[in-house]
Amino acid sequence: MPLLDGVQVIASKIHGYGGRTTREFLKGETVCFGDGVLYQQDDDFDDTYALILPGEDSGLGENIFWDLVDQTRWFNHSCDPNTEVQSKWDNETKTLRAWWVALRDIKSGEEITYDYGFVADVAEVCACGAESCRGLIVDPDEAHNVRPELRQYLRLAS
Ligand SMILES: C[S@@+](CC[C@H](N)C(=O)[O-])C[C@H]1O[C@@H](n2cnc3c(N)ncnc32)[C@H](O)[C@@H]1O
Ligand SMILES: [Zn+2]
Repeated sequence: MPLLDGVQVIASKIHGYGGRTTREFLKGETVCFGDGVLYQQDDDFDDTYALILPGEDSGLGENIFWDLVDQTRWFNHSCDPNTEVQSKWDNETKTLRAWWVALRDIKSGEEITYDYGFVADVAEVCACGAESCRGLIVDPDEAHNVRPELRQYLRLAS
């Protein structure tokens, strides 16, 4: 698989491996397209590196799991991310397209992050380091449902 242009895998200050830019991207620019393998809700697989997206008109159930298989696999979460993932189901080819769009101007060398927006069941302690860090990798609307042992880490704006 060819390497994604403008993206490089690094040892991250946030967690494990991450991805960073090798050139500047302007707000609104597509940073990269990802590649993945599709799984369905009941499939037995490790979803650590998967995007979980609404199934929409795919006929594959309520959610689609798209296991990232390229450099995007390593992109970490931030509560103040510099990209967002957009995606589209192509009913004709029965495939998903997903791409990362810059939410602000991104300098060369910045770590690429997006908001995982985890549901409460899979929330994890967040190390993104952002001033607005929520303390947990969790969708703010889900925060009240996190496991009791994780509540101490929550830092939600009041
Ligand atoms: C798709 S992987 C990202 C790659 C990961 N850094 C690695 O080296 O395997 C997602 C996992 O990375 C970790 N992770 C990502 N962002 C994080 C963050 N902001 N704080 C703490 N852990 C994070 C979590 O364990 C999460 O389940
Ligand atoms: Zn955070």
